[in-house]
Amino acid sequence: MEYIKFCGTTICERLHRTKFLRSFSENDKYTPSDADMSLKQGSGTGKVHFGGLDDVSLYGTPVEPAPPAPDAKQGFLRNQLQALFQPTDNKLAMKLFGSKKALMKERIRQKAAGHWVIHPCSSFRFYWDLCMLLLLVANLIILPVAISFFNDDLSTRWIAFNCLSDTIFLIDIVVNFRTGIMQQDNAEQVILDPKLIAKHYLRTWFFLDLISSIPLDYIFLIFNQDFSENFQILHAGRALRILRLAKLLSLVRLLRLSRLVRYVSQWEEVYFLNMASVFMRIFNLICMMLLIGHWSGCLQFLVPMLQGFPPNSWVAINELQEAFWLEQYSWALFKAMSHMLCIGYGRFPPQSLTDMWLTMLSMISGATCYALFLGHATNLIQSLDSSRRQYREKVKQVEEYMAYRKLPREMRQRITEYFEHRYQGKFFDEEVILGELSEKLREDVINYNCRSLVASVPFFANADSNFVSDVVTKLRYEVFQPGDIIIKEGTIGNKMYFIQEGIVDIVMANGEVATSLSDGSYFGEICLLTNARRVASVRAETYCNLFSLSVDHFNAVLDQYPLMRRTMESVAAERLNKIGKNPNLVAHREDDTTSEGNTINAVVNALAAEAEHVSLSDDSVARLSERSLGLALQPLQAASCRMAGVALPGLGVAAALPRPKSEHDFSSTQAQPPSLSSVGAAFHKSDAGIAP
Ligand code: CMP
Repeated sequence: MEYIKFCGTTICERLHRTKFLRSFSENDKYTPSDADMSLKQGSGTGKVHFGGLDDVSLYGTPVEPAPPAPDAKQGFLRNQLQALFQPTDNKLAMKLFGSKKALMKERIRQKAAGHWVIHPCSSFRFYWDLCMLLLLVANLIILPVAISFFNDDLSTRWIAFNCLSDTIFLIDIVVNFRTGIMQQDNAEQVILDPKLIAKHYLRTWFFLDLISSIPLDYIFLIFNQDFSENFQILHAGRALRILRLAKLLSLVRLLRLSRLVRYVSQWEEVYFLNMASVFMRIFNLICMMLLIGHWSGCLQFLVPMLQGFPPNSWVAINELQEAFWLEQYSWALFKAMSHMLCIGYGRFPPQSLTDMWLTMLSMISGATCYALFLGHATNLIQSLDSSRRQYREKVKQVEEYMAYRKLPREMRQRITEYFEHRYQGKFFDEEVILGELSEKLREDVINYNCRSLVASVPFFANADSNFVSDVVTKLRYEVFQPGDIIIKEGTIGNKMYFIQEGIVDIVMANGEVATSLSDGSYFGEICLLTNARRVASVRAETYCNLFSLSVDHFNAVLDQYPLMRRTMESVAAERLNKIGKNPNLVAHREDDTTSEGNTINAVVNALAAEAEHVSLSDDSVARLSERSLGLALQPLQAASCRMAGVALPGLGVAAALPRPKSEHDFSSTQAQPPSLSSVGAAFHKSDAGIAP
């Protein structure tokens, strides 16, 4: 029988496993068809390969070597079983390997490790662990009750239950010897070598698992029976003592708790992340507390029972020796819980020494559980709203600082208000958070965060998305309070601002408010364009949420998008003109003697004028009629749009023009060319209600 090794995609594998496999098992020979002509015969090995490729598919994905064609149903079963032992793309595997490709590689690695090694990420291990978890919980609840409250140590159902669970736990040891071992979160470190697995297991949990699985009590009883029969000294009293010892030995099974803790913590890690994991931990802790309470209750009864219920024991005092087991259990549990929660001693305080020691034991275990529970619950509550906690801590620190520096009351008030407005009750180190993201993700998050700004700033709204993204990723969020001087006239500027929310006044040297800008507008650009000093002061009228762009970023971005620079320059020139300063201060405006520069500006102005349906007068801009512009500049317009990435679909679409908005035209009385004034009005939507 020939062994076919396909090096293709999954389809090839499936093909092999179904059609080809079937034909082999039926006919036990292979006849090459036309389609198989590209297959080449592996020299001497009887293997057939796809030309040139070996362990890698056409797409670079490693391909599982196809299994040898089975010659019987047994082979099929074996394959199925082995597939069950292989890692599947479950949550654990994906967490460990990250991709399906890596998972495929791991499958190959596992195959190489040996046929009967179970991968920790396999479906088999998942279901096995699940079953073990259920069995463990059942064991840990039923065993103490049966040992303490039932005297049927040698009854058939009790022996059957014990034998069945002991057998399964022994099988678990065998399974553990064949299960790969995960070390940390490193896929490469899954130990798959059977020898290493055995060594690791022997060094760690093996002995505890073994002791908790061996039916020591039965072994002891069997040996004792032989001994007693041989020497004929089995008295009733001795038999009782032997049974009691067997009972104590059977308590060893409770060491299975270690397995429960192991399995639960492993599941917790993989299947419950972040918040869920904290809740899960609390849930586990509550379950553990209840389990310890249950055990303690059983122990409260077991000890007096082993002593033969002395008259001063709590069982005798409560006259529970002959009561129904549920009544005995309820009183025992009540007593244990009372100690554990430090509420009392149950019905009566301990009278005997044994009772007192038992009470102390359950008090200690209860207090420990209680402390652990409190710790975890506090942790949970804190992690529920860590940003709010951080904010409170920050505010507390600031308050202490203000007191330490003895700041005046009014300043303290302003600082507190600033914090409230700036952080809104939550504190995030946004730079650190964003810095930890991938570049693409960071860009996406920033773009998303700035969506309202981009939508409200016409300068962005109609610009190329690349330009917007370039600018937006470099913005810094800043908050100013009413009355703050954001920009001081005559100073050297190193950033410009976009207004997300709020109103600012442009204040002249004589204190006169030239205009007001609000949401979606920008200011501080003239200084960056001209490399001169600030031409006016800018004062916050209300709380202002601004985004600043530093001069370096400003120049870097605008160098790449020259038309955006021109647009800004044209607006700047107009602003300068409005406040009675020389519009030629703006460098490019001055240099724009080229026909291209003129025409771009003309296009910009004409479009803006059209946007507001302002009839142009006989000034320089109006001289360019819409029609003639349209005809003369169409090729140029297309080119400049491409160059700058501005969406200018046609001369008739004024909305495409990126403009600042919300500027308040203050200077209708000022001496300036009427044409520019009217164009200015067209550029800047007046913000009713904020008139100076
Ligand atoms: P800059 O000179 O850097 O600093 C002051 C800013 O006020 C200035 O840039 C412009 O952005 C802005 N500004 C000046 N005059 C006006 C105006 N008439 N309309 C709107 N904004 C203006």
